[in-house]
Amino acid sequence: MNQITRLAAYFLFLNLGIFVPRSLFSEGIGEIIKSAGNNASVEIIANGIWRVRLGKPEEFTPTHFRSGSIQTQSLEALAPAAASPINLEKIRFAVSARGCVVTLPMNSGEHIYGLGLSTRSFDKTNTRQKLIPSDNPEMEGGVSHAPVPFYVSTDGYGVFVDTARYATFYIGDTSPLIDAPETNVPEAQIANSTDVLYKARTLANRSILVDIPAAQGIDIYILAGPQMLDAVRRYNLFSGGGAVPPLYGLGMVYRGKGDFTAQESLRLARSLRETGIPCDLWGLEPGWQTATYPCSFVWDTNRFPDPSGFVKQMANMGFRLSFWEHCFTHSISPIYDDIKPFSGNFRVWNGLVPDFATTNGRKIFLNQQEKSLFSLGVLGGVKLDECDNQPWSPTPWSFPEASRFPSGLDGEQMHSLLGVLYQQTMLEPFTRRNLRTWGLVRNSHALASPLPYVVYSDSYDHHCYVRGMANQGFSGLLWGPEVRDTGSVEDLARRVQTTIFSPQAIINAWYMKLPPWLQMNMEKSNAGELMPGHEEATALIKKLFELRMSLIPYLYSAFNDYRLTGTPPMRALVMDWPNDPMTYAVDDEFMVGPSMLVAPMFAGQGKRSVYLPAGTWYDFWSNERMQGGRKIEVSKPLERIPIYVKEDSIIPLAYPVQHITKTTVFDLTVKVYGLKPAPFVLFEDDGESNDYLSGKQSRVSLLWSGTSGQIERRGDYTGPARYTVSQWENIQESPSPLRPLGQTTGSTTLYKEPR
Ligand code: GAL
Repeated sequence: MNQITRLAAYFLFLNLGIFVPRSLFSEGIGEIIKSAGNNASVEIIANGIWRVRLGKPEEFTPTHFRSGSIQTQSLEALAPAAASPINLEKIRFAVSARGCVVTLPMNSGEHIYGLGLSTRSFDKTNTRQKLIPSDNPEMEGGVSHAPVPFYVSTDGYGVFVDTARYATFYIGDTSPLIDAPETNVPEAQIANSTDVLYKARTLANRSILVDIPAAQGIDIYILAGPQMLDAVRRYNLFSGGGAVPPLYGLGMVYRGKGDFTAQESLRLARSLRETGIPCDLWGLEPGWQTATYPCSFVWDTNRFPDPSGFVKQMANMGFRLSFWEHCFTHSISPIYDDIKPFSGNFRVWNGLVPDFATTNGRKIFLNQQEKSLFSLGVLGGVKLDECDNQPWSPTPWSFPEASRFPSGLDGEQMHSLLGVLYQQTMLEPFTRRNLRTWGLVRNSHALASPLPYVVYSDSYDHHCYVRGMANQGFSGLLWGPEVRDTGSVEDLARRVQTTIFSPQAIINAWYMKLPPWLQMNMEKSNAGELMPGHEEATALIKKLFELRMSLIPYLYSAFNDYRLTGTPPMRALVMDWPNDPMTYAVDDEFMVGPSMLVAPMFAGQGKRSVYLPAGTWYDFWSNERMQGGRKIEVSKPLERIPIYVKEDSIIPLAYPVQHITKTTVFDLTVKVYGLKPAPFVLFEDDGESNDYLSGKQSRVSLLWSGTSGQIERRGDYTGPARYTVSQWENIQESPSPLRPLGQTTGSTTLYKEPR
């Protein structure tokens, strides 16, 4: 059959189905290799990424507003993918007045993950997920602060559906008549209980159905593996690569009480320095503004009589500032009249909703941000609150889905994209100054990996927060499980242990006068009452913060890897072990960087079970060597979180500093696990600017010969060295005795006490 007749044969449409032969996929990137009028065309976008265009897609989609460009070269470095990982012949498409539907094949054994930063569900197999932006503790099934229409499979591929609609994904729980012969699945019994009535049934066949409202067409992107992690990497590189924080962004964050004055902020910030509690970013919550629900974006000079003096004093103590705001604009704001024509046609809390998809909307909004914030000097970041949708709250901070915006977006599309558009807008002043930032945001969406913002939530359930740690990596998102008030010191310590392994380690004391280690109870904190045992609690929390500070070089390297290869710095176990069904439900452990497995503990839990995947592992604290492929029972004292290190890896641990400066040099103890560890590559640059993008960076490799360590520096970073190694510690067979942090054994030191 020649090419023409072959194509003609594939133009058979069934229910507007498309039929594309694998053999055609050896064509060049960018070439449209099949088109079927309005109905279907397939284009290879980059190595291992196919775009299937079905019908006539909408204009306003995540790719229309993409934050970064496709990292074609990095994608080339991944395994070549000649054929689509899923059988494109089995994709079906239908359009109706209510929108369009895509049906994709699903194998019997595969498990599906992703679809955004859900904190309540993990394995999405056999579930329905309606991607609604919000976070309501009662809701699950696709509702989250950051819904993302991208899923990955243990079969080693991913699918991105390019839509800002509230699409519903039916994952293996529908059984299309068309796909399978009639089967009669006999029911074993007449149901005599609700348990029996509602139990799972075996379906004759299954598929993944995506129901997209309003759209008369859709682009879907198929991303090849061969493994699940490769598909995730491709997605992140397609998005523009992963964001790299400024070095200080990896330090500790403390957010002060919402109505703190300049004096109160300075006093508490000073006391952190005096007690040696590490902190890099100081967060100002609503009280810096004259009005906040909605916002004026103007300093309240009653609380902050001299904003610029305040910023300088904080900077002198080594604090970067992170400013809270949301975008709903108060009528007393100087930009109100100007931004009105570039706002949606409904108010939120009586404020305007700026349309960040218009150039003028962005410009007018940023002019005010320049005046109030950026002109004051170096800022660390912004916290972009309330950009999620909360239709269930008594005064919803949401505009109707039927809203219209001057850019042409409707309310549903804007709800999905508001967080991303707002992040892009507020990134611009940093980029213009050649500075990096590390912000917070409460809503995000697809293709967000290049955006330097961490998603947070008020929801606060610790188990959910840990699940977020495992889920974030599936969807190109970063998650910050913040710590506030707690019911016990144990809860405080366990929560802090989770946050110090996250992309942004946050104490969010926005409703507490005292830090939680001085008083964990909100009322007592606001009455200024110190809790009994606060000295011990302070020492404990300080140790945990120091652990975070010692991990900064390791984390910085993991983020550089995120940028270059798309590998999520924090990810679920199933991503690294997709062929091990024991990992499929593990949502309370996660990998950090290349070789650390972290299994947080929860208050009230004397011990927990930890699944160690196949291989050899070392207990980070005791150095005990253990075989994986099994569950172990673990118990750790309050100053420790269960951490396991893969054999044959190198972990650099820095002497913990209180905060990062331009000239910080990390003094490293390099821990070498096993006899033949892979080199560890540190990322070295100025830590703050975007110069690394034009080559001003070095790779500092830590190599172990079997008996001694060596450092190799390659690259064009000309500033002072960021890293020195003061000792190498080789850990092999013999377990060393359990030592508390800071104690020394023989000639080696696991951690040094702060000098
Ligand atoms: C909430 C936010 C909190 C805090 C508070 C201030 O919406 O999630 O972290 O910033 O607003 O009013």
